Amino acid sequence: MGRKKIAILYGGRSVEHGVSINSARNIAQFIDKKLFEPILIGITEGGTWYLTKEVSSKIKRGDKVTLQLSAEKPVFQAGKKKFTPDIIFPVLHGTDGEDGSIQGLIKAMGIPMVGTGVLGSSMSMSKLVTKKLLKEAGLPVADFSYCYYRDRKKLKFETIEKELGLPFMVKSASLGSSVGVSKVKSASDFKKAIDEGFRYDDCVLFEKYIQGREVECAVLGNTPAKASLPGEIIISKKYEFYTFDAKYVDGEAVTIQVPAKLNASISKTIRELSVQAYQALYCEDFARVDLFLANDGKVYVNEINTIPGFTNSSMFPMMWKERGISFTDLITKLVELAEARFASTQRADRGYSSSLKY
Ligand SMILES: Nc1ncnc2c1ncn2[C@@H]1O[C@H](COP(=O)(O)OP(=O)(O)O)[C@@H](O)[C@H]1O
Ligand SMILES: [Mg+2]
Repeated sequence: MGRKKIAILYGGRSVEHGVSINSARNIAQFIDKKLFEPILIGITEGGTWYLTKEVSSKIKRGDKVTLQLSAEKPVFQAGKKKFTPDIIFPVLHGTDGEDGSIQGLIKAMGIPMVGTGVLGSSMSMSKLVTKKLLKEAGLPVADFSYCYYRDRKKLKFETIEKELGLPFMVKSASLGSSVGVSKVKSASDFKKAIDEGFRYDDCVLFEKYIQGREVECAVLGNTPAKASLPGEIIISKKYEFYTFDAKYVDGEAVTIQVPAKLNASISKTIRELSVQAYQALYCEDFARVDLFLANDGKVYVNEINTIPGFTNSSMFPMMWKERGISFTDLITKLVELAEARFASTQRADRGYSSSLKY
């Protein structure tokens, strides 16, 4: 058997475009070239697909990709090159790439895909649906409320303050990388936070502020899914919370502790909650579950990232490295999981024979 053609999608029409490029650059570098032939497909911020020679921000230097849609044999073409990937790995963060949109396109092409499918992706992308489902599954989440853009005029600082106390968090409901997220400490912060939240989304979420530590767990596998030991993000006092700049721009902003210094019983609780959250949101193959460990010892699930970062400072690969799985082996494992899952979905009958005339 020759090497498997794996299409790595990167960039994307998302505020996390640049983060995706940094993630995909690492995947392209570390993927086992004995097993896989990486095909690098960059998606511009405008949403146009190009076949590129390397993962870079200069996506337009590549050849535009056209696609013959078919669930039997979809054919990609770029310049003179024609190909059908054996598997697709969307290394995309945020809108389109992590929210089920591209997952739907890949599903319709009948190509195996690494990661969570349409349903789990779209549910996990929405912080509101995530919170509702986690709560319904009996998992601990911070108290929350929300408002749609059409109702914004009814919003009052006093109402939210009464409901959630101070400070509280305001978030765009379906973004990532802390874009559209603010901490409101007093009435004077409110308007700016709301404007920022609605700038990127039609729905804004309000959350009780959890004072404590930020911990994350990497989950891998289907049935069963396994959680790594938790890691911790220790954020410099310079920042009010884990902002975009603290995440990606300021190299000094955080200290990453893998594994986190936790007592055994809290660590166990975090790992169990992470797997339960992963299952409650229909996640597949892998995800990173982010939680808070409050100062009173209570653990809250914050969110699930179905395509966590693979950048140099990303926790997901780091947490598995700590468990003895190298970056290269992790990618191979993800592909194996995706292939096994895809094979199992081929069992169900798609047709239904009846006497219906059409
Ligand atoms: N309820 C909360 N209590 C305390 N801090 C929070 C809360 N929600 C979010 N934060 C802070 O804001 C950051 C970004 O929020 P998060 O919900 O994780 O959005 P994103 O998807 O953009 O990462 C978190 O990492 C944390 O620092
Ligand atoms: Mg987060």
